[in-house]
Amino acid sequence: MRSLLTSTLLISIATGAVVPKDPGHGQGQNKKLNVQVGPRPYFLVEDMDEGPLKKKLQSCSEGPFKVSNFSISHRGAPLQFPEHTRESYSAARREGAGIIECDVAFTKDKKLVCRHAQCDLHTTTDILARPNLAAKCTTPFTPARNGTPAQAKCCTSDITLAEFKTLCGKMDGYNANGTTVAEYMAGTPPYRTDLYATCGTVMAHDEYLKLVDGWGLKFTPELKTPEVEMPFDGYTQEQYAQDLVNAYKKAGIKPERVFLQSFLPADIFYWIKNEPAFGQQAVYLDERVDTPEGYANATASIPDLAKKGVRILAPAFFALTKLDSNRNIVPSEYAIAAKKAGIKLIGWSFERSGFLKTGGGYYYDYVKEVINNDGDMYTVLHALAQQVGVMGMFSDWPATVTYYASCFGL
Ligand SMILES: *[C@@H]1O[C@H](CO)[C@@H](O)[C@H](O)[C@H]1NC(C)=O
Ligand SMILES: *[C@@H]1O[C@H](CO)[C@@H](O)[C@H](O)[C@H]1NC(C)=O
Ligand SMILES: *[C@@H]1O[C@H](CO)[C@@H](O)[C@H](O)[C@H]1NC(C)=O
Repeated sequence: MRSLLTSTLLISIATGAVVPKDPGHGQGQNKKLNVQVGPRPYFLVEDMDEGPLKKKLQSCSEGPFKVSNFSISHRGAPLQFPEHTRESYSAARREGAGIIECDVAFTKDKKLVCRHAQCDLHTTTDILARPNLAAKCTTPFTPARNGTPAQAKCCTSDITLAEFKTLCGKMDGYNANGTTVAEYMAGTPPYRTDLYATCGTVMAHDEYLKLVDGWGLKFTPELKTPEVEMPFDGYTQEQYAQDLVNAYKKAGIKPERVFLQSFLPADIFYWIKNEPAFGQQAVYLDERVDTPEGYANATASIPDLAKKGVRILAPAFFALTKLDSNRNIVPSEYAIAAKKAGIKLIGWSFERSGFLKTGGGYYYDYVKEVINNDGDMYTVLHALAQQVGVMGMFSDWPATVTYYASCFGL
């Protein structure tokens, strides 16, 4: 890490930035934080259908707004800031998120960094515009031609940590019709913005850890499923899972502040067995629910998962609710089974769906018949919070969830 610290320092000096004092384990620092939810929650509340929930949310318009661990930052605040950058995490903190996520991937020299996928550098950074680094990509850029889409695949494991740290974070997106790198890279969806995509500061996992610790907030690092064959140059999946825990142990972070996540049950069981203090609140991200048969199997498996020590499940939030015969939003079979087994639930992710006027797509699949305006997001959140009883909600714009959490004392 020495070279990294040195280069950070050099960059700071070169740009004239003040190197912040190490705030230590910043418990309670947020007492002084002036949480800002911005105009979006008000826009959503005004957009709601008339009724008691709208009235209640309107009654909370002047705050106070507080940091809430119900409000979980998903990749920072990537509705408007490049995901997994210092600027994005900082926006999430300002919006009152009590828990901040780093998706964890490893570099060629087996260092942990924050990226949503091991192989998304071509859509979340400017790597393709850096010829020396672009040449190292698993699949270098090929322009679109004669109806064949453009191609590129660049992985954190293609480059070293020092190389990774030279990249700029950008809004996630690409244009498969791109005939040049610049055209390919310009793919930000219309409901997001490039306003803050001015070279986002990409983060090593250790830098994220120090930043969030200094803010006195909680961590939710997700061990991303490798996209290279494991072991990678001798690096095993178990070592990768262990290295993540070791980072928190080495920094003296209490396990209660860390919600490890993985889509791979083997990672969850590894932590339960080998690092029980962390494993007992590890979050099993359940993507089995994505097909109807998988959903039924997943629901049936919940008692067994509880027996094996799994305490928190987190499927995409569509799987936690459904409509009853009167078209009311109610807890799903999956949510009921989890409650019965004493398993807590977390939902993901709000503010990834863009405009909701045509039903909201994937995340609203089981309730889409009653979704037709953006304000309906709060109707769904209310059902998740009050009926399903989720312990927290991930959001690409934590302010939306913070507003609700402050209003309902969560
Ligand atoms: C948030 O804090 C409350 C009160 O301390 C606690 O009951 C709850 O379990 C916490 N939730 C999370 C996700 O940490
Ligand atoms: C790419 O080209 C196809 C076919 O011409 C078109 O339908 C589509 O809208 C284009 N996509 C973008 C992002 O420009
Ligand atoms: C569901 O469970 C059945 C019975 O164990 C199994 O045969 C099937 O492959 C499973 N389907 C899915 C999608 O997991």
